[in-house]
Amino acid sequence: MSFPIIPQNLSISAMRSSGYRDTAHALAELIDNSVQAGLEANKSSLVEVICLEKTPAPGFRPHIDKIAVLDNSGGMSANTLRQALQFGNGTRLDPKKQTGIGKFGMGLPNSSISQGERVDVWTWQKGIVFYSYIDVQEISNNQLKEVPEPSASTVPSEWLGLFIDGMPESGTLVVWSKLDRISWKQGTTLLRHLEFLSGRVYRRFINERHLRIRLSSFEITPTGHTSRYESFVRPNDPMYLMTGTSTPEPYDQVPAFAQFGSTQLISIGFNGASHEVTIKASIAKQEARLSGGGKVFGRHAKRNQGISVLRAGRELELNKTFELVDPRERWWGLEVEFPPGLDDVFGVTNNKQSATGFYRMIIADDAETEGVSAQEYKRLLVQEGDPRLPMYEVSEEIEKFLKELRSAVARMREGELISSKTETLSAKVEKSATASVKKRRERIGSTGRSDRQEEEQNEEVRAQSLTADIVDDGVEHKIAREIAIDYVKKHTKFRVRHADLPTAAMFDVVASGGVIVLTFNTRHPIHAKLFDEFRKTEQFNGFAKDLLAMIMAWARMEDEAASPQIKDQLQEVRELWGRTAKDFIEASEV
Ligand SMILES: Nc1ncnc2c1ncn2[C@@H]1O[C@H](COP(=O)(O)OP(=O)(O)OP(=O)(O)O)[C@@H](O)[C@H]1O
Ligand SMILES: [Mg+2]
Repeated sequence: MSFPIIPQNLSISAMRSSGYRDTAHALAELIDNSVQAGLEANKSSLVEVICLEKTPAPGFRPHIDKIAVLDNSGGMSANTLRQALQFGNGTRLDPKKQTGIGKFGMGLPNSSISQGERVDVWTWQKGIVFYSYIDVQEISNNQLKEVPEPSASTVPSEWLGLFIDGMPESGTLVVWSKLDRISWKQGTTLLRHLEFLSGRVYRRFINERHLRIRLSSFEITPTGHTSRYESFVRPNDPMYLMTGTSTPEPYDQVPAFAQFGSTQLISIGFNGASHEVTIKASIAKQEARLSGGGKVFGRHAKRNQGISVLRAGRELELNKTFELVDPRERWWGLEVEFPPGLDDVFGVTNNKQSATGFYRMIIADDAETEGVSAQEYKRLLVQEGDPRLPMYEVSEEIEKFLKELRSAVARMREGELISSKTETLSAKVEKSATASVKKRRERIGSTGRSDRQEEEQNEEVRAQSLTADIVDDGVEHKIAREIAIDYVKKHTKFRVRHADLPTAAMFDVVASGGVIVLTFNTRHPIHAKLFDEFRKTEQFNGFAKDLLAMIMAWARMEDEAASPQIKDQLQEVRELWGRTAKDFIEASEV
C-alpha cells in the first residue's frame, strides 16, 4: 500500500469546493487565460462564452447542459495543453513571468471542476488541433491517473456552427459538462450575471479594445439549435468615468461621475523591489446624483458600491470592508490598483477573487490589541518584514480619500436641499427670528456685528459675501446668487446651515453680509439625533420651533457681544458646552 501525501482519487472531491463565488466568477478564470494569451500574442482577443441548453424530459424547462469558452488568442502546443490540465502547472510559475493575470497554474482545472465533473479542451495553432480532458469520476475511481496525452483531433461540429466568426486560425475551446454545481440553471440568467461581472472585471481591456466578449445561449431542439440569448459585453465601470458602457442611459454615453482629486501613487518596497500602488477616486455629477437612489441609475450604482481592487488591469473584487454601509456610498468610486509583485502584501487567493490582505487597518488599534505602543508595533513589523506594514499606509490613504468623498457627497446633498428652496423648518424659523431681532433693535438699538455690516456695506457687497458662503455649501453660483439677493432684499437676519466643522461645538455663529449665519455641526453626535431633522422637516412643530428659537437667541447674543473679548469668551463657552453635551449624549446611549 502506498501513502501519497496528496492521493488524487480521494482529494479530487474536496478540491471541487475551492470557493468560487458563483459560475460567473469561475468562468472568469477561463476568460483570464484567453485575455492573457491574446495580450502575449499581441492581438486583440475575441472570447465567446456559449451555453447549450437541453430539455431533460418532456414538461421540463430547458436548462444548461454544457458551457464553452472559445478564444482566438493563439492556442497551445500539445505539451502546454497537458500542463494546463494539471493542478498547479502552467507556463507562469517562474516569478519573472508573473507580470500578468495568471500565476498559480490552477485556474483552468480548478474553476472547471468547481462547476462540473468534466472538462474537455481543444486547442489549435495554424489549424492543427490537439485534444485532452480530465474527468472527476474517472479520477475518483482510479481510471485516470495522468492527464491524457494530447491527441490530434478536430473541433466537434456541435460547436463549430455556433462560433460567430467560424473557427479561428489558432485558438482554444474549453467545454464544461456534467454540470452538477452551477449557480443558475438557465443560460439567459447565467449570461446576464456574467455580462455584469465580466464587464466590470475586464472593463479596462474591453475599453482599450484589447478584448471583445460575446455571450450566447442556444437551446438544442430535435431539428437543430434555437438562439436564446446574444450580446457583446460592454464595460461596466464602477468609477462611472468610461463611455460606451452598459450603464443605463444617458450614462452609457456620458460619464455619470467625474474624477475626484488627483491620482495618488504610493511606492511600496517589498521583496527587495519597489512597486507602485495607484489610488483613484471619482464622484457623482450633480445631475446623476439627482436622478435618485431608487431610479435605474441609482440601482446600478448600488450594485457597484465598494472599492474596486485591480491587479494587472483586471478587477479582483469590489471591497466593502471600509464600513461602506450607507446607501450614499454609491455616489463615489474608488479604484486601488497594484501589480502582481505585491500579491503577498494584498493576500491574493489562488482563485483570484479577493485580496484577503486588503481591508480597513488602523495601526493604533492593532497595536493596542497586541498591548504595545503604535511605535513599538511598527518597529516589530519592520523587523519581521511583515507584509501588513505597507497595507497600513494604503489603508490610511484610502481613509483620507473616503473622508473627503463622504463630506463632498454630504455637501452636494446640502446644496441640493438649499437649491430646492423648500420652506424647511429652519427657513421658517429664520423668518420668525428675524422678526424678533427687529423688535429687539427697536428697543435696545442695533448693537450686533451683523447690524454694522448691514449699515456699512451696500446691497451688492452683502449679496456677494452671502453668495460666496452659499456656493461653499455646494450650490451652483447662479442659484446661490438668487438666494443671497433674496436674503438681502427681505432683510432676513439669519441663515441656518449644516456642515462638518472642525470644532467640538454643536453649532457655530458668524456674521456675513449683514446676516447671522448659524451653522449646525454635522460632526457633533447631537446633529444626527436632533438638528438633522430641522433641514428635512417642514412642519412647524411647537417644540422644535422653541428649541430653534433658543439657539437663535444664543446666536444673536454672540452677534451683540459688546467687545471682541466677550465674543471670544462666548465662543469658548459654546465649545465647552459642545464637548460636555457630547459626553452626555454618548453616556445616554450606553
Ligand atoms: N486559452 C488559452 N490560450 C493559451 N494558453 C492557455 C489558455 N488557457 C490556459 N493556457 C495555458 O495553460 C496554463 C495553465 O492555465 P491555468 O489557468 O491553469 O494557470 P495560469 O493561468 O498559469 O495561472 P492561474 O492559476 O493564476 O490562472 C497557462 O499558464 C497557459 O500557458
Ligand atoms: Mg489562468
